[in-house]
Amino acid sequence: MGLSLNDLCVRFATPSGEVLAVNHATVSFRQEEATGIIGETGSGKSVLGLSILGLLPAAAVSGRIFLDKRELTALGEREMCQIRGREIALVAQNPGTSLNPSLRAGRQIEEVFRLTGAGRREARARTLALLERMGFSRPEETARRYPFELSGGMRQRVLTAIAAAAQPRWIIADEPTKGLDAVVREQVYDTLRLSRREGRWGLLVITHDLLLARKLCDRIVVMYCGRVVETGPAPALFAAPRHPYTQGLIASLPHLGMKPMPGFSPAFTDQPSGCVFHPRCPYAEERCRREAPELTAAGEGSVCCHRCA
Ligand SMILES: Nc1ncnc2c1ncn2[C@@H]1O[C@H](COP(=O)(O)OP(=O)(O)O)[C@@H](O)[C@H]1O
Ligand SMILES: [Mg+2]
Repeated sequence: MGLSLNDLCVRFATPSGEVLAVNHATVSFRQEEATGIIGETGSGKSVLGLSILGLLPAAAVSGRIFLDKRELTALGEREMCQIRGREIALVAQNPGTSLNPSLRAGRQIEEVFRLTGAGRREARARTLALLERMGFSRPEETARRYPFELSGGMRQRVLTAIAAAAQPRWIIADEPTKGLDAVVREQVYDTLRLSRREGRWGLLVITHDLLLARKLCDRIVVMYCGRVVETGPAPALFAAPRHPYTQGLIASLPHLGMKPMPGFSPAFTDQPSGCVFHPRCPYAEERCRREAPELTAAGEGSVCCHRCA
């Protein structure tokens, strides 16, 4: 049971050529876990998340996506509308545009409870209780505010509460801490963590914030240039990363020396031969320039590197 992607490809046609933003991704997410999808900006994390929700009208998607036994990639738009929000909720990257600007925050959460049959008074009470359980210190005050009266961090947390109110089976949170300062990041982190006690939903956290992923997630999926390059349990992956790219990401963390990884991601329209990471890899050999490695089982996860196979 869970969400699984089977040989998923997402292509965009652009003026400079085709962009294969998700490149033959085969990966599963377990509902009982929080999974972090990490990687530098532009590695295809958001596109992967949005493809699960069928929210990429401009893209050509191939491969298959399953929610438990149901194939989402075989559903029509009407059926996908039933899935979105109710079964898989998105906490979008830009909370500024995802909230209704003309409704108080509390009302927007209440409406979710009303849709599930609660009366006005019950919806109100459940909203305040939910906000409190999700770490809001002044739930009544937050509920009374309009989105423009809330800070970016607060809006992010309110969006998480709206998602949680629907009691979905999955919540996908895209860059929930982007642009927030350290204190507010902690609060968003607490809200996400507490949200998991609300229901038994699976959580997919898409982020370039490695510290968030390490604190919040049970498993990690690392993406580079649209490919899944490593997966594994969070503690093992952070303690002993296998892929040289994951090693580079972790070495750039502030408390681990803040060594920036040399080089940069190649353009999607001009990808290197062989292993896509070889131009940046300190261990690259002749074989890496010629032959693309496959994602192979390793420990309790998998890795896509000739050296690790
Ligand atoms: N609608 C689109 N049209 C063309 N290219 C896109 C579109 N959406 C995303 N891309 C490209 O797909 C790649 C992956 O993007 P994205 O998933 O947003 O990266 P991430 O979330 O990891 O930062 C990027 O190169 C981006 O420019
Ligand atoms: Mg993104």
